[in-house]
This record gives sequence, structure tokens and C-alpha cells, in this order.
Amino acid sequence: MAFSSSFSVMFVVVVWMMVGSSSYAQLSTNFYSKSCPKVLSTVESVVKSAVSKEKRMGASLVRLFFHDCFVNGCDGSILLDDTSSFTGEKTAAPNNNSVRGFNVVDDIKAKVEKACPGVVSCADILALAARDSVVILGGPGWDVKLGRRDSKTASFSAANSGVIPPPTATLSQLINRFQARGLSAKDMVALSGAHTIGKARCVLFRGRIYNETNIDTSFAKARQSSCPRTSGSGDNNLAPLDVATPDSFDLKYFNNLLNKKGLLHSDQILFNGGSTDSLVKTYSSNTKKFYSDFVTAMIKMGDITPLTGSNGEIRKNCRKPN
Ligand code: HEM
Ligand SMILES: *[C@@H]1O[C@H](CO)[C@@H](O)[C@H](O)[C@H]1NC(C)=O
Ligand SMILES: *[C@@H]1O[C@H](CO)[C@@H](O)[C@H](O)[C@H]1NC(C)=O
Repeated sequence: MAFSSSFSVMFVVVVWMMVGSSSYAQLSTNFYSKSCPKVLSTVESVVKSAVSKEKRMGASLVRLFFHDCFVNGCDGSILLDDTSSFTGEKTAAPNNNSVRGFNVVDDIKAKVEKACPGVVSCADILALAARDSVVILGGPGWDVKLGRRDSKTASFSAANSGVIPPPTATLSQLINRFQARGLSAKDMVALSGAHTIGKARCVLFRGRIYNETNIDTSFAKARQSSCPRTSGSGDNNLAPLDVATPDSFDLKYFNNLLNKKGLLHSDQILFNGGSTDSLVKTYSSNTKKFYSDFVTAMIKMGDITPLTGSNGEIRKNCRKPN
């Protein structure tokens, strides 16, 4: 009797410690089902109207989520403007003049705050907006794990440190940088399939279209026509990452790679005689497999060191700590 009651006291204490400790807190797909049942439809409707105005916005929102998660985890840090106490991530090399969609996130946040003030994090809004964008552009859907909280700070230096690989990266650098975030080579290739939508600037593919040999000649010529050889001229001219179907989330990106029509060096390197060739081939003819690996990898990416429990905060304005 004495043994069994002290045993049950201990059991209760252990369970209480596990539930109470924020390190135990987990993301879950029903996190807001009681506290903000409207969050899913609210995010979806704002993303829908933004993408119907400009298809590219869907791509931009997907990329925001990636760049948020790779720098100190999915904590909304990329959304913070500079303050007097820190320089944020927006002007770091991978982001400056490149990431976009902040106004759409503000719009989503304003509507969500109206429905349920102080409840939904900016980090979760990014995760939902990325999923909704993929779906709206014709890609797969999935249940988004929620319950992330927002950082109180952002890190220019972390965003600049190379955790987000540059488009000049070698295959082993790409693999290593994803590995460093707990993502496999397979996840990396599947996630690169996000380049089936969106655009890139001339300055980031000039070297490829003028100097590389593993490129389709007529494709290179077409890209050169709006991206001058001379550095500094036309740097911001845009070209679609997927030459075939730039506004559809499909497998054409991988098809392009088989035809040496990858736009970025980091795209074509995935099909250039190396260890990822066979996966690219598979995805190029198997939508189901691409979608299922992409979804798995997006969920994994969304799990990168979130703030949970009582860590961080729920920002009122995604651009500023409370
Ligand atoms: C594998 C390593 C990756 C590299 C080196 C890379 C590099 C780039 C570059 C250089 C651009 C063009 C930026 C500009 O012109 O300013 C871009 C755009 C884009 N990236 Fe990636 N990326 C990678 C992985 C990913 C991942 C994992 C995702 C999402 C799952 C993603 C989604 C996108 C999207 C959607 C765009 C177009 C954005 C827009 O049009 O606004 N990328 N990427
Ligand atoms: C970001 O881009 C702007 C405009 O091109 C430039 O003036 C600024 O120096 C860049 N910031 C950083 C930190 O490189
Ligand atoms: C092409 O390569 C040459 C030799 O390495 C280099 O000098 C030149 O700047 C490169 N051109 C472009 C457009 O990257």
C-alpha cells in the first residue's frame, strides 16, 4: 500500500515534469483547434487572394519559410525588422533584395489577430502560408504541425554564415548544409523541387549561363538575352526557375535538369553525374513520389528547433518583438 501510493505520487510527478517542461512540448496539427479555429481558413484566404494577384507570391512565401527555418529554427526571425539592439536577417546576403512577401504576412497577421488576438505565432503563419501556396499552385497538401512560438530577436550574422547555401554551392556543400539541419540528401533534392515555381535574378545565374558547359545551348542563349554578361548590368532582371511551367507546382523542374535546363548552378548540380542523379530521374517521371518526399521533407524542415512551451513569445506584429 505504502509502496504503491508513493509509486503513484512519483508517477504523477514524472508526468507533470514531462508535460510542464517546455523542452518536451511538441508541435501538433490541432494546436489552435480550440484557441483559434479560424486560423486555417484565414491564412488560406489571404494567401489565395495574394497569389491570384501575383502567382510568384506563392513561391516567395514558400522561400520565406525555408529561410526562416534554416537560421536558428522556424521562429519567425526572418520577419523582424532591424531594431536599435540588433540587425535582423532581411539584409543578410541570402535575403537582401531577394526574399519577399512580408506585406502578405503582415496582412495575414492582422486578420488572424482580429480573429484571435495574441494566440497565433508568426512562425506558424509562415508554415501555413507555405503549405497553402504549394496547394494553390497545384502541388500536394499536408497537415501542418503548429505550436511554434516567435523569437524575440534575429541574427544577421547567423543568416549570413552560410547555413543557407549559395547558388554556387557544390553538391557536397548542399548535402552538408542540409545535413547540418537534420535533413538528408533526399530531403534536399525533394525540397529543391520547390524551384518548380518562382524566379531568380540575373546576378545569381550569370556565371552559369555564360560559363558552364552542362547547359542546353538554346536555353543559355535565351537566358542571356535578358541577362547581360557584364557584371552590374541587368543584375536584377528575373527569369523563371522552371523554364517549362513557372507557375505550376509540378515535376517539370526535374525534367529540366535531365535536359540541362537548370537555371542555377545549384539546380543543375543535382543532375550532373553525381550521387543525386538517380533521385532526380525518379522525380522527373513520378509525381506521386516527388510529392510524397517533398511533403515529408517540408514537415521535417518545419520541425527544425522551434520555440515551444513558454519559450519565445507570440508577436503582435510580425516585424517587431513585443
Ligand atoms: C538547395 C539549396 C538551395 C539554393 C542554393 C537555393 C537558391 C535559390 C536562389 C539563388 C534563388 C533566387 C533568389 C533571387 O533571385 O534573389 C531561389 C529562389 C527560390 N527558392 Fe531556393 N534555393 C535552395 C533551396 C530551396 C528550398 C529548400 C526551397 C523551399 C522548400 C526553395 C524555394 C525557393 C523558391 C520558391 C524560390 C523563388 C522565390 C521567388 O520567386 O520569390 N529553395 N533559391
Ligand atoms: C542590401 O541591398 C541594398 C540595396 O542594394 C544595399 O544598399 C545594401 O548595402 C545591402 N545591404 C547589405 C548588408 O549588404
Ligand atoms: C567566366 O569565367 C571567367 C574565367 O574564370 C571569369 O573571368 C568571368 O568573370 C566569368 N564570367 C561570368 C559571367 O561569370
